[in-house]
Amino acid sequence: MYNKFMKNKILQILNQNIDTYISGEEISKMLSISRAAVWKNIKKLKEEGYEILSTTNKGYCLCDTNDILSLSEIQKELSSFYKKIDIVDSIDSTNEELKRNASILEEGYVLISNRQEKGKGRNNRIFHSPKQEGIYMSILLRPKLSITHSLKLTACASVAIYESIKNLYQLSPKIKWVNDVYLHDKKIAGILCEASIEVNTANVEYMIVGIGINVHDYEMPTDLKEIATCIETYSDQKHSRNEIIKEVLNTFDKYYTEIDANTFLPIYKENSSVLFQDILVYEKDFSYSAHVLDIDENANLIIQKEDKTIEVLNAKEISIRKK
Ligand code: BTN
Repeated sequence: MYNKFMKNKILQILNQNIDTYISGEEISKMLSISRAAVWKNIKKLKEEGYEILSTTNKGYCLCDTNDILSLSEIQKELSSFYKKIDIVDSIDSTNEELKRNASILEEGYVLISNRQEKGKGRNNRIFHSPKQEGIYMSILLRPKLSITHSLKLTACASVAIYESIKNLYQLSPKIKWVNDVYLHDKKIAGILCEASIEVNTANVEYMIVGIGINVHDYEMPTDLKEIATCIETYSDQKHSRNEIIKEVLNTFDKYYTEIDANTFLPIYKENSSVLFQDILVYEKDFSYSAHVLDIDENANLIIQKEDKTIEVLNAKEISIRKK
């Protein structure tokens, strides 16, 4: 017997006994299925790329190299802000799934997927989300903020990603306004915040903070290789995605709780790749040169154009590029 449910159950059992053997008989008893069914599901898991050792007399062993997402690992020492977390193997987009269910979800809900079929970036771009290689997750928030302050949430998430990578890998990424994290001039992470707004008050009804991080070194599509990279391309250290997710969630919670005090801002500014730089600003149908003077308390970019006029940029449809 092979079915998705049993396959995932077996994966769960193997994952709870990572790097140790568990016999086919034990698994078959735990799930009330035959040993042949266990074998069939293990075969399927191997075909999907999981590294599972099988030895006569000892049984099956899931190797530590698989980096499997695990709820219990993520929840150990996780901030109590995150009341419910779901992990799925595949979804179109974690942001889309949260939008579909926003009315019934509480603040602090997190959805994590092993891969995304239609991962989304800003301005309708695709966020490449291959299985097992990166982190693809969305957090649901119900902040007491007006939409004019909402850019701060993207900034908090950028700082959380920046600090987590710095602490775990001793690397020094750069934050590119408004939503990207870069390593050696290539993108390693992106944030997509999407909000539902109350029409009369412009208050945020809910906000979805979508976070994508390229973790493992994998063969990226050629066009992407030019502009994106992965953490492990620049580090020999290995950290599980569970560990990184926990670090990002805890750090994000810290800055979100302190959002009125803007404690994220000095770190955001210190590690900005665009502050005090010459940039090109791309609006819908045109672009122009400018110099970045500052990032204000709402995470807006303060720029000076070539004609010396000063403008305040908030995200909208704008994107920028360093000159
Ligand atoms: C960007 O590059 O402009 C932002 C990328 C954001 C990607 C994350 S992955 C999890 C969440 N679900 C999505 O479809 N997008 C965000």
